[in-house]
Amino acid sequence: MIRLGLTIGGVFSNDTYSMIKFLLICTVLAMATGCTYNNTQDLYGGVTAPCDTSAVTFSQDISEILTQNCVICHNDNDPIAGVNLEGHSNASAWAVLNTFMNRVELPLGDPLLMPPSGPLSLCDQSKLRAWISEGAPNN
Ligand code: HEC
Repeated sequence: MIRLGLTIGGVFSNDTYSMIKFLLICTVLAMATGCTYNNTQDLYGGVTAPCDTSAVTFSQDISEILTQNCVICHNDNDPIAGVNLEGHSNASAWAVLNTFMNRVELPLGDPLLMPPSGPLSLCDQSKLRAWISEGAPNN
């Protein structure tokens, strides 16, 4: 240990310039690596579908989000917790209540999160918000 310490000290203590250069290279490498893995194209396999919330409709967007993520539990036949999200009239009645988006926007791990398996994508959450802000229409 002592020998290692002395060796490292010997390499750098007499050459502050190499030390700074070494640290700079480390920093640049760390930054470059960090950027690579934060890149959305890498995270989503090169497919970066933009989230368009400008023309959200029940028939084109919302119905599918609810069918794929909620209706398995909240349906006509067996509406768990009395929540039926099947079809526009049922879904819109629930969607306009504060509890609806409150539950959808909870973080992963919160026991009240809907759906319980994990949060909807941020894009789906934005689409729901956009639709609800229009009054949850049947469009
Ligand atoms: C795996 C089954 C399951 C799925 C999928 C599911 N829920 Fe639920 N949901 C439940 C259960 C069980 C409860 C009652 C327990 C609780 O309150 O957490 C509940 C309760 C709720 C409540 C609270 C009702 C109240 O009285 O306040 C809302 C709102 C709700 N769910 C919305 C949704 C939405 C929106 C989705 C889809 C994005 C969804 N749920 C998906 C099982 C599910």
